[in-house]
Amino acid sequence: MDLLYRKLADELASLINNGGFQRGDRLPGVRHQAQLRGLSIATVITAYRQLEDWGLLEVRNRSGFYVKAKPAIAVQPPRIVVTTMRPAPVTGQDMVLQLIKAANNPAIVQLGAAVPAPEFLPTRAVEQAITRVLRQQRVRANNYEFSTGAVELRRQISRRLADSGCAVHPDNLVITNGCQEALSLALRALTQPGDVVAIESPTFYGLLQVIESLGLEALEIPTNPRSGMSLEALELALSRWQVKACVVTPNFSNPLGCCMPEDNKKKLVSMLKERQIPLIEDDIYGDLSFSHARPSLLKGLDDNVILCSSVSKTLSPGLRVGWIAAGAYQDNIEYMKYVLNLATSTIPQLAVADLLENGQYDRHLRRVRGDYAQAVARMTEAIIHYFPEGTKITRPEGGFVIWLELPGEIDTFVLAHKALELGISIAPGPIFSASQKYRQFIRLSCACVWGNRVERALVALAGLIQQGTNPA
Ligand SMILES: Cc1ncc(COP(=O)(O)O)c(C=O)c1O
Repeated sequence: MDLLYRKLADELASLINNGGFQRGDRLPGVRHQAQLRGLSIATVITAYRQLEDWGLLEVRNRSGFYVKAKPAIAVQPPRIVVTTMRPAPVTGQDMVLQLIKAANNPAIVQLGAAVPAPEFLPTRAVEQAITRVLRQQRVRANNYEFSTGAVELRRQISRRLADSGCAVHPDNLVITNGCQEALSLALRALTQPGDVVAIESPTFYGLLQVIESLGLEALEIPTNPRSGMSLEALELALSRWQVKACVVTPNFSNPLGCCMPEDNKKKLVSMLKERQIPLIEDDIYGDLSFSHARPSLLKGLDDNVILCSSVSKTLSPGLRVGWIAAGAYQDNIEYMKYVLNLATSTIPQLAVADLLENGQYDRHLRRVRGDYAQAVARMTEAIIHYFPEGTKITRPEGGFVIWLELPGEIDTFVLAHKALELGISIAPGPIFSASQKYRQFIRLSCACVWGNRVERALVALAGLIQQGTNPA
């Protein structure tokens, strides 16, 4: 059934996106569609659910399935910024602190930091898991978990990795304080100050901060909003510069939200393997696909890939539970983790293990992937409606952030400051680049509770952009 439902969902999605079905149109009922296509009712229902997950369809009580999104043809993807590739130290990250502080200020409409609102997180289940852990394992919960972390959590992660085609023994995992610490440990293990690290451009600003703090240089590789890091550009860069490591987020990168095609994943892994350049894979959004299939991991193609991830975008950023599968660097990373902060807090580790083991994690994923897809579709629709003509937007395939290129002459650093004065936080484009490119770009997080407050913020933002584009 898998392929049939997906074929139907893809066909209907492309009809919707190309304007064949208009917003508000009613799709044939399930039975009728099944008869028309000679498919089973279950296949049609699954396909319709998929379209709902993608934010293209809504069910109206008793009256059927209606097209929800505007034709995607109205939205152009942002441009790929190509400049001379040369290694450079990271600059201009001070704005990030403002952004991060805004994330904790309830008076501010939070569209900046990629932090899900509590409504997207299983807060009750987390609370119950913590209570269970404290009740059932009181002594252990109050002790250190040196230094690789709780074995039951590592077992659960190892099982999940096996489901995604990666054989990682629990002994080859280290639990970290989130994905950020995993990335930091990976780069510490692989580099010395002054070394060059190839990264996607635009990229997650936290990675840039790690690069900055370790005295490394970033080599920004142009990245396509649909297919990820340009392998042609990477090849060229590798022929010119001595690169010590390469960091990528192939599954729903931040901020572009794209998923690297399978062939590109294979090419990337073999290109780096041939040159003996270690590859670090950040998979923090990998479980948040809008379609059913979880995308594959680079780690599944080569055991030496260093995989970093966490539950910050799925269960809770506050638990601070992440992990690293470090392959050949395991011993070194285990020791560095110990030196850095002895261990990750025990209670959150045991609580996450509990949620993975009892199935609540998967149940939550099934719900939240659709919620994120819907949140992205709704925000995109509002932006098309309110923002000036010429605004270009990514169409992410997972995660919950969108990347916008704004029309005309605009400096998004200035825009972000003005927006903050109005109580709205956005992430300006230059913080996603080591050399502060992307002055005309912003990233918005869609994982906020939709309502008048957010809609008014978008209208206000649109007004500021309009002023910025018409300085007179
Ligand atoms: C791509 C990416 N990697 C890593 C992180 C950091 O994750 P954590 O909160 O688990 O440290 C983030 C957080 O926004 C991210 O977007």
